[in-house]
Amino acid sequence: MAKEQEFYWRRLHSLLGLIPIGLFLTVHLFINFSATKGAETFNKFSEGMESLPFLGIIEWVVIYIPLLFHAIYGVYIAFTAKPNLNRFGTTRNWFFVLQRFTGIFLVIFIAWHIWQTRLQKTIADATIDYNLMSDVVTSTGMLIFYIVGIIAATFHLSNGLWSFLVSWGITQSPKSQKVVTWITMIIFVLLSVVGVMAILAFRG
Ligand code: HEM
Repeated sequence: MAKEQEFYWRRLHSLLGLIPIGLFLTVHLFINFSATKGAETFNKFSEGMESLPFLGIIEWVVIYIPLLFHAIYGVYIAFTAKPNLNRFGTTRNWFFVLQRFTGIFLVIFIAWHIWQTRLQKTIADATIDYNLMSDVVTSTGMLIFYIVGIIAATFHLSNGLWSFLVSWGITQSPKSQKVVTWITMIIFVLLSVVGVMAILAFRG
């Protein structure tokens, strides 16, 4: 791939990771968190989402197309990019590796999650509600798989925010990059708490 062309693909990949995918993930976790207030509250939110006009188009434009591009190009990056041991410290290089591992794991997790929820609506006319998710996480194995998936996603998004700010030249000095490492790790912990509390709420 020509260098200049690759630069623009990378920028697009980076931008889509944050907007709309990252934004969607955040909203998704907060809506799921409503399950901590009981099945009825969650179902109200879920019904509200389901009744949005042009839902099919919104789903494709905001979620599936950006996610497909980000995931396919992300797999390519994950298998070709090398960590920069000279420029960044050891922690950052570990995060670099984790970003790639979580990305690959997310391909499997998200595919499985879409199959268990959205595709059941299409092929089996299932209603996506509290009971559906409750059935999904009845088994301990599946609950653990979801918890690992949620934490992988929140890490990938939070650490991705760090690398987004570097890629776009917003945080350039080593000091600002260090401060943002802390900020993004706090975001990681907070989002993980929201996501894990939400999934546990589906166990009743
Ligand atoms: C929950 C879904 C996902 C979200 C919210 C998300 C978000 C992000 C964000 C915000 C970035 C930072 C962009 C940057 O480095 O400038 C990023 C980077 C990355 N994502 Fe994702 N992503 C998701 C799924 C995936 C999947 C399924 C893959 C597949 C492997 C993937 C692979 C990557 C890779 C390799 C990078 C690093 C790019 C680089 O360092 O240049 N992501 N992601």
